[in-house]
Amino acid sequence: MQGGHTGGAGASACQPSGPRGYPVAAPMESIDVWWSVDWSGAGWQAEAPAPPVFPPSIDHLGIAVHDLAASIAFYQSLGLAVTHRETVLTEKVDVAMLPAGDSRIELLAPTAPDSPIARFLEKRGPGLHHIALRVPDLNAAVSRLQASGARLLNEPRTGAGGHTYVFVHPASTGGVLLELIQENTK
Ligand code: CO
Repeated sequence: MQGGHTGGAGASACQPSGPRGYPVAAPMESIDVWWSVDWSGAGWQAEAPAPPVFPPSIDHLGIAVHDLAASIAFYQSLGLAVTHRETVLTEKVDVAMLPAGDSRIELLAPTAPDSPIARFLEKRGPGLHHIALRVPDLNAAVSRLQASGARLLNEPRTGAGGHTYVFVHPASTGGVLLELIQENTK
């Protein structure tokens, strides 16, 4: 009497199932998730631990000025203080750095008529010259930019402060000259 219940009647009452009970027909969105999993890593580790991320931050705003002393006096009147002065011979520019919170104002005045800052002043007048983002890994950032076709203005260089930097053309950045820098920690 009991034997009749162990055959096909019982199986047909169940949902169709594949090996190990996985549904035979998965919804499309599940398949999409499945395909998006990167199997190149270690076995079944669908969600590999992400590398530590240090998002870029604004390191400084570079402002081109005719008269460095007058500009310094203006920002000092707002309570900012000069923490670094430097003449960068290769760029023919006098630089003053004034920290403002976690960022800095970088005042730039030309030391010669053929300085890039002199040419900027001639064409545009005093004003915002560039924005500098501090990135955790400059070489990685440069690789990504090159892969995406962004226009870099120089190979990574080491500046006088010991940091490495590149400039990205305004055509690639939304119209502003962008400096990327990486602090070289000892
Ligand atoms: Co700068």
